[in-house]
Amino acid sequence: MPETLALKINGQLVEVPSGTSVAAALLIASQPFRLSVIGEPRAALCGMGICFECRAVVNGRAHRRTCQLFCEAGMTVETNL
Ligand code: FES
Repeated sequence: MPETLALKINGQLVEVPSGTSVAAALLIASQPFRLSVIGEPRAALCGMGICFECRAVVNGRAHRRTCQLFCEAGMTVETNL
Protein backbone atom coordinates (compact mmCIF):
# COMPACT_ATOMS: atom_id res chain seq x y z
CA MET A 1 0.00 0.00 0.00
CA PRO A 2 1.49 3.41 -0.92
CA GLU A 3 2.29 5.69 2.00
CA THR A 4 0.58 8.67 0.39
CA LEU A 5 -2.06 9.17 -2.26
CA ALA A 6 -3.34 12.10 -4.27
CA LEU A 7 -6.91 13.27 -4.75
CA LYS A 8 -8.57 16.45 -5.99
CA ILE A 9 -10.46 18.64 -3.57
CA ASN A 10 -12.32 21.54 -5.15
CA GLY A 11 -10.01 21.24 -8.13
CA GLN A 12 -6.84 21.35 -6.03
CA LEU A 13 -4.49 18.36 -6.07
CA VAL A 14 -3.91 17.24 -2.48
CA GLU A 15 -1.53 14.55 -1.20
CA VAL A 16 -2.45 12.82 2.06
CA PRO A 17 -1.21 9.79 4.00
CA SER A 18 -2.97 6.50 3.23
CA GLY A 19 -5.81 5.86 5.65
CA THR A 20 -6.81 9.53 5.86
CA SER A 21 -10.54 10.24 5.96
CA VAL A 22 -11.91 12.64 3.38
CA ALA A 23 -12.96 15.00 6.19
CA ALA A 24 -9.38 15.05 7.47
CA ALA A 25 -8.12 15.66 3.94
CA LEU A 26 -10.38 18.71 3.70
CA LEU A 27 -8.82 20.05 6.87
CA ILE A 28 -5.26 19.19 5.76
CA ALA A 29 -5.89 21.06 2.50
CA SER A 30 -7.51 24.03 4.29
CA GLN A 31 -10.56 23.59 2.11
CA PRO A 32 -13.99 24.70 3.30
CA PHE A 33 -16.79 22.28 4.01
CA ARG A 34 -20.27 23.02 2.63
CA LEU A 35 -22.41 26.08 3.36
CA SER A 36 -25.78 25.87 5.10
CA VAL A 37 -28.95 26.90 3.26
CA ILE A 38 -28.54 30.41 4.69
CA GLY A 39 -24.89 30.58 3.69
CA GLU A 40 -23.20 29.77 6.98
CA PRO A 41 -20.04 27.67 6.82
CA ARG A 42 -20.41 24.14 8.16
CA ALA A 43 -17.77 21.56 9.09
CA ALA A 44 -17.36 18.06 10.45
CA LEU A 45 -18.85 17.95 13.93
CA CYS A 46 -19.37 14.42 15.24
CA GLY A 47 -16.80 12.56 13.13
CA MET A 48 -18.85 9.37 13.36
CA GLY A 49 -21.54 9.63 10.69
CA ILE A 50 -24.43 11.04 12.71
CA CYS A 51 -24.61 14.81 12.16
CA PHE A 52 -24.26 14.94 8.33
CA GLU A 53 -22.45 18.31 8.64
CA CYS A 54 -19.46 17.00 6.68
CA ARG A 55 -21.34 16.19 3.45
CA ALA A 56 -19.69 16.74 0.09
CA VAL A 57 -19.88 15.52 -3.48
CA VAL A 58 -17.44 12.62 -3.77
CA ASN A 59 -16.72 11.13 -7.18
CA GLY A 60 -19.88 12.81 -8.45
CA ARG A 61 -22.14 11.45 -5.73
CA ALA A 62 -23.78 14.13 -3.58
CA HIS A 63 -24.29 14.13 0.18
CA ARG A 64 -21.51 11.70 1.05
CA ARG A 65 -20.43 11.89 4.67
CA THR A 66 -16.74 12.65 4.36
CA CYS A 67 -15.95 11.51 7.90
CA GLN A 68 -17.03 8.00 6.88
CA LEU A 69 -14.90 7.73 3.73
CA PHE A 70 -11.23 6.99 3.33
CA CYS A 71 -9.35 8.88 0.64
CA GLU A 72 -8.61 6.96 -2.53
CA ALA A 73 -6.11 7.79 -5.27
CA GLY A 74 -7.76 9.89 -7.97
CA MET A 75 -10.85 10.65 -5.90
CA THR A 76 -12.61 13.96 -6.54
CA VAL A 77 -14.26 15.93 -3.76
CA GLU A 78 -16.39 19.06 -4.18
CA THR A 79 -17.73 20.89 -1.16
CA ASN A 80 -20.05 23.34 -2.92
CA LEU A 81 -23.26 21.27 -2.63
S1 FES B 1 -18.90 14.76 10.95
FE1 FES B 1 -20.88 14.15 11.57
S2 FES B 1 -21.53 12.87 9.96
FE2 FES B 1 -19.52 13.42 9.41
